[in-house]
Amino acid sequence: MKSFINVEDLGPLDKAMAEAFEIKNDRFKYQHLGKNKTLMMIFFNNSLRTRLSTQKAAMNLGMNVIVLDVNAGAWKLETERGVIMDGDKSEHLLEAIPVMGCYCDLIGVRSFAGLTDREYDYAETVLQQFIKYSGRPVFAMETATVHPLQAFADLITIEEHKVVERPKVVLTWAPHCRALPQAVPNSFAQWMNAAPDVDLVITHPEGYELDPKFVGNAVVEYDQKKAFEGADFIYAKNWSNPGVTNPADYGKITSKDMSWTVDTEHMSWTNNGKFMHCLPVRRNLIVTDDVIESPNSLVIPEAANREISCSVVIKRMLEAL
Ligand code: CP
Repeated sequence: MKSFINVEDLGPLDKAMAEAFEIKNDRFKYQHLGKNKTLMMIFFNNSLRTRLSTQKAAMNLGMNVIVLDVNAGAWKLETERGVIMDGDKSEHLLEAIPVMGCYCDLIGVRSFAGLTDREYDYAETVLQQFIKYSGRPVFAMETATVHPLQAFADLITIEEHKVVERPKVVLTWAPHCRALPQAVPNSFAQWMNAAPDVDLVITHPEGYELDPKFVGNAVVEYDQKKAFEGADFIYAKNWSNPGVTNPADYGKITSKDMSWTVDTEHMSWTNNGKFMHCLPVRRNLIVTDDVIESPNSLVIPEAANREISCSVVIKRMLEAL
């Protein structure tokens, strides 16, 4: 596997899931694969879970790990071609990337959407430059439009906690004080669509439609209560306006409707549904204290499964070196 961005990159999902459970049973089974190999994790944005779980997965596989926080100690990087570099950016990504590639065998990249230029973000400009110029396999650690390591962990978590063969899974928008990217809901929708035994419903205020290529065959329901009825899993997430229905709204907050916050009344509409969120989460905006602290909250097992999803991805990349 030369790059990991979308669900198709893993090949058949049932095989990837079987590998995930094999690794969960024996995390060090493939430790020989990473001997004398180095992972470089490059962060243009903050992280807690991705940073820790990816490093842990790489260590389980016997790798050495280098972490670069671009905004803390590296030269400030220019990412666009054609710019006269007479500002505060001392180095261009187009030199920095191949240099980074000299020091490692695999690269993980975190680079969020700027949320000002939809075309630039949805072209995955920074990630694609890493793929083109690093000479190394590259995996997304949340990029402008996708967060596949999270969605893979979410699918593992649903598989572990489902009590019916074909669960109803609801992706719900919830309010937030800052404009957030669409990467998590995009990938979640993509992976749930690819899963053979999931009924996916997406609910959000009108105008917040996700890109159709991620929505796929999901049912879109603007009435949050109707969407929640009979749900087995509630996956809450805020996202800024994707600019699908009105391009001028891209990256903006066009609703702060607090009636969408997931509280105990919302959860009472479900089929004893489990609550999920990728974290970090702002309590009492996205979800109330009571719901996230309830026995039906899966936010911690979900985060724990990040180590497993990443282990599968790194294992596949090491096997293909
Ligand atoms: N869910 C997730 O990616 O968390 P971090 O942003 O802390 O890495």
